[in-house]
Amino acid sequence: MTAVAEQLRLKLGVVGKGGVGKTTVSGLLARAYAERGQRVVAIDTDSNPNLGLSLGLSLTETEVVPVLPRSTVVGSGGTAAAADLLAQYGRQTPAGPVLLSAIKVAAAGAGCTCSGHATVRSLLGDALEEVDVALVDMEAGLEHLSRSGGTLAHADLLLVVCEPTRKSVLTAARTAALAVELGIPEVVAVGNKARTAQDVAFFQDALSSERIALAGVLPYDDVVAAADRAGPVGLVPVAAEVQRALDDVLAVLDGCRARIAADPARIEAGPWSSRGL
Ligand SMILES: Nc1ncnc2c1ncn2[C@@H]1O[C@H](COP(=O)(O)OP(=O)(O)O)[C@@H](O)[C@H]1O
Ligand SMILES: [Mg+2]
Repeated sequence: MTAVAEQLRLKLGVVGKGGVGKTTVSGLLARAYAERGQRVVAIDTDSNPNLGLSLGLSLTETEVVPVLPRSTVVGSGGTAAAADLLAQYGRQTPAGPVLLSAIKVAAAGAGCTCSGHATVRSLLGDALEEVDVALVDMEAGLEHLSRSGGTLAHADLLLVVCEPTRKSVLTAARTAALAVELGIPEVVAVGNKARTAQDVAFFQDALSSERIALAGVLPYDDVVAAADRAGPVGLVPVAAEVQRALDDVLAVLDGCRARIAADPARIEAGPWSSRGL
């Protein structure tokens, strides 16, 4: 990683259509950053949280991760400090990152999840001094990327995960449009579950038509699929092919990180400038 890229505290949202592999990719990336010595906080915003499994926790351990308080304003003028929330609600995972769970729907008809998303939004806007990478595994759907929700309003970078289907690329295109509205400076895609050269060509063509940069393509990996059937996947050794693809993605993200760090507007406003909506 370049010195410039390392200096920026990265706030990364992992988004995309349901089932494309957001949680899998979030787990792999969070683990890879931690292996590089970065202090990583991985935030699960799925109402059916399972990022813990992708970071090596057991199902029981994942289920008891405490859920962040709702509608919490973090930082100056708020009711909580980011460091206190981390200390109280963060759980160290075997894969390295600290896990935060933002939303959990425990009962039928429990209402909307907006107040949990509000806490994540505020947390990302505050100075998480102890953190190098804050990665948010987003719930599928575009609702919380809209101007009114805006969970990721303070994110620097969106990584849109796609599978080799037209619908997932359509979701990526809609997401990229919302990112512009939210003022998120960088959006890149990662292709996932590629089985054939045609799948790779599909990602290249379909995403370039939508003017979305493709950071890399992860192959369909039987080990990932089998581990997922068995339970925790976070510590399964990564296949060489997947690792190569992951390294490509990380290199592209480093480039984005360096560009964002060099952005004069950002430097003026400080590394965790809040883009208020
Ligand atoms: N590269 C891959 N190879 C094989 N299976 C994968 C891969 N990526 C994801 N999967 C599988 O696809 C399913 C959905 O993945 P998940 O990460 O939970 O998606 P999302 O978070 O987008 O809903 C899981 O069963 C997971 O094991
Ligand atoms: Mg998921």
